[in-house]
Amino acid sequence: MRPCLFEHRYSAAQADITGFVFFTVKWSWAVFALLLYFQSWIGLSLLAADKAIPFSQAGKVKDWVKKGKIEIEDIPNPHWNLAACAACHKGKPGRKNIRLRGKGINATCNNCHQVLADHVHDHPLAVAVPKSMRKRMPPAFRKTLLRGKRAEKVMSCSSCHDIVMQCTEKRFSDRKINPKFMRGGPYRSRTGLCYKCHDKKAYQRLNSHDQISASGEIQPDKCLICHMRVPKQLDDGTAVDTELWVKTDYASLCLNCHEWSPHPGGNFLFLDKGGPQHLVKPPPGIRRHMLKMEKINGIILPLEKDNGQIYCATCHNPHARGVLKNPRAAKGADEPKRLRANPMCENCHDL
Ligand code: HEC
Ligand code: HEC
Ligand code: HEC
Ligand code: HEC
Ligand code: HEC
Ligand code: HEC
Ligand code: HEC
Ligand code: HEC
Repeated sequence: MRPCLFEHRYSAAQADITGFVFFTVKWSWAVFALLLYFQSWIGLSLLAADKAIPFSQAGKVKDWVKKGKIEIEDIPNPHWNLAACAACHKGKPGRKNIRLRGKGINATCNNCHQVLADHVHDHPLAVAVPKSMRKRMPPAFRKTLLRGKRAEKVMSCSSCHDIVMQCTEKRFSDRKINPKFMRGGPYRSRTGLCYKCHDKKAYQRLNSHDQISASGEIQPDKCLICHMRVPKQLDDGTAVDTELWVKTDYASLCLNCHEWSPHPGGNFLFLDKGGPQHLVKPPPGIRRHMLKMEKINGIILPLEKDNGQIYCATCHNPHARGVLKNPRAAKGADEPKRLRANPMCENCHDL
C-alpha cells in the first residue's frame, strides 16, 4: 500500500514549517520547495531500485558503472544460481540456440567482467589457435573453438572456463572442488590447465625473465607467463594489476621451469633432513629482522600473500632490469642468480 503523500508531508513534525512556507513566502516558492521535495524522494527510490539489479539487466551494467549509477559491488553474481539464467541468456536457452545476452560468449561475460576488471585477466583471446596446439588440445577444449557463428578457430572464456557447469543444477556439486569452473579441472597446480594447450617442453625452454626486447621495449606477453594481467605502474612507484596466476603455493609458478633442490644451505652436510626448509612462514624474530633489513638495504622481501610464507621470489627477482619502476622492488633484477641482495643470508638471519 502506498502511503498518501500529502498526509506524509503534513506529518506533525513538518506542519509548522510547511505552514510557515505557505503563509509567509510567495506561492511560487512553496511550489518550488514542494518540487524539490518530490525530486529528492523520487531520486532516492530510483537509486534503491538500482541496488538490486535484476539479472536480465546485465547488458546495462557496464554503462551504469561508467555513469556512476551503480557501484562495482552492486553487480549481481549470477554464477551457480538457478534464478540467474537471464544474466547470460535471453529467453530459454537450448542446445541448438543458446540465446546469449551478448554477441558471443566473451561479450556476454564482459557485460559484467569488463568493469569487474579486478577479477579478470588478459590471456590472448582473439588470436588464431595454431594447428599444432589444436592437435594437442583434448577434445573438450578443441570443441570450444568451433562454437559461434563463423566457427573461427579462436578461443573464448569458455575454452578455459567450463561455463555450462554453472548452467546445470546437476553439476552444481562441482562448485565445492572447482568454484571457478575451470575446464577439465580442478587442477592441483593452475599451470596444469596451461599445458592442455601449450607445449610443456617449449614452455619450459621459454625464458620468462627475458622481458625486454632488443629495441628496449617491455614485452607484455612475457608478463602473462606469471601475471594474470600486464601490470601497470603508476608514477609514484605503486603498481596495479599484479595478480599472479597462482593464489597459493607460489613456488609452482617457478617450478614449471626450474627444478627444486632445497636451498640455500642445502649442501650443509650436517643437516640430515635434506637441507634447511626455507619455504616456510618466517617465525616472528626472523620476520622482524626482515622488515628492518628491507629498510636498511632498500629492497623488498615479498611473501606469499595468503599465508605469509617465503617463496622463490622472496630471495630472487624474476624481473628484467628496466621493467620495475619502484627502485626497491627492482633491486636484484638481472643480478647474479637474480638475488635481491648480496650477501642474501643476512637479510633474514641475524649473523
Ligand atoms: C554466467 C553466464 C551464464 C549463466 C548464469 C547461465 N548460462 Fe547457460 N550458458 C552460458 C554460455 C556462455 C553458454 C555457452 C557455452 C559454450 O558454448 O561453451 C551456455 C550454454 C547453455 C546451454 C547449452 C548447453 C550445451 O550443452 O551446449 C544451456 C541449455 C544453458 N546454458 C542453460 C542455462 C540455464 C538453464 C541457466 C540458469 C540455471 C544458465 N544456462 C545460466 C552462460 C551462462
Ligand atoms: C551479471 C554479471 C556477470 C556476468 C554476465 C558474468 N559474471 Fe562472472 N562474476 C560476476 C560477479 C559479481 C562475480 C563475483 C566477483 C567477486 O567475487 O568479486 C563473478 C565471478 C566469476 C568467477 C569467479 C568465481 C569464483 O567463485 O571465484 C568466474 C570464473 C567468472 N565470474 C567467470 C564468468 C564467465 C566466464 C562469464 C561469461 C560466461 C561470466 N563470469 C559472466 C558477475 C558476472
Ligand atoms: C587461457 C585460459 C583462460 C581463459 C581464456 C579465460 N580464463 Fe579466466 N581464469 C583462468 C585461470 C587459470 C584462472 C585462475 C583460476 C584459479 O585461481 O584457480 C581464471 C580466473 C578467472 C576469474 C576469477 C578471478 C580471480 O581473481 O580468481 C574470472 C572472473 C575469470 N577468470 C573470468 C574470465 C573471463 C570473463 C574470460 C573471458 C573474457 C576468461 N576468464 C578467460 C583461465 C582463463
Ligand atoms: C585453451 C587453450 C589455452 C590454454 C588453456 C592456455 N593458453 Fe596460453 N595461449 C593460447 C593461444 C591460442 C595463444 C596464442 C597463440 C600462441 O601464442 O601460440 C596463447 C598465448 C599465450 C601467451 C602469449 C605468449 C605466447 O606464447 O605467445 C602466454 C604468456 C600464455 N598463453 C600463457 C598461458 C598460461 C599461463 C596459461 C595457463 C594459466 C595458458 N596460457 C593457458 C591458448 C591457451
Ligand atoms: C617469472 C614470473 C614473472 C614474470 C615473467 C613477470 N613477473 Fe612481475 N612479479 C612476479 C612476482 C612473483 C611478483 C611478486 C614479487 C615481487 O614484487 O617481485 C611480481 C611483481 C610485480 C610487480 C610489483 C612490484 C612491486 O612494486 O612490488 C610489478 C609492477 C610487476 N611484477 C611487473 C611485471 C611486468 C611488467 C612483467 C612483464 C614485463 C612481469 N612483471 C613479469 C613474477 C613475474
Ligand atoms: C617459462 C619458464 C620459466 C619460469 C616460469 C621461471 N623461469 Fe627462471 N629461468 C628460466 C630460464 C630459461 C632461465 C635462464 C637459465 C640460464 O640461462 O641458465 C632462468 C633463470 C633463472 C635464475 C638465474 C639462474 C642462474 O644460474 O643465474 C633464477 C634465480 C630464476 N630463473 C628464478 C626464477 C623464479 C624465482 C621464478 C618464479 C618467480 C622463475 N625463475 C620462473 C625460465 C623460467
Ligand atoms: C631464502 C632465499 C632463497 C629462496 C627462498 C630460494 N632461493 Fe634460489 N637461491 C638462493 C641463493 C642464495 C642462491 C645462490 C646460492 C645457492 O645456490 O645456494 C640461489 C640459487 C638459485 C638458482 C641458481 C642455481 C644454480 O645452480 O646456480 C636458481 C635457478 C634458484 N635459486 C631458483 C629458486 C627457485 C625456483 C626457488 C623456489 C622454489 C628458490 N630459488 C628459492 C636463495 C633462495
Ligand atoms: C627470506 C629470508 C631468509 C633468507 C634470505 C635466508 N634464510 Fe635461512 N632460514 C629462513 C627461515 C624462515 C628459516 C627457518 C627458521 C625456523 O623455522 O626457525 C631458515 C633456516 C635456515 C637454516 C636452518 C637453521 C635452523 O635453525 O634450522 C639454515 C642453515 C639457513 N637458513 C641458512 C641460510 C643461508 C646459508 C642463507 C643465505 C644463503 C639463508 N639461510 C638465507 C629464512 C631465510
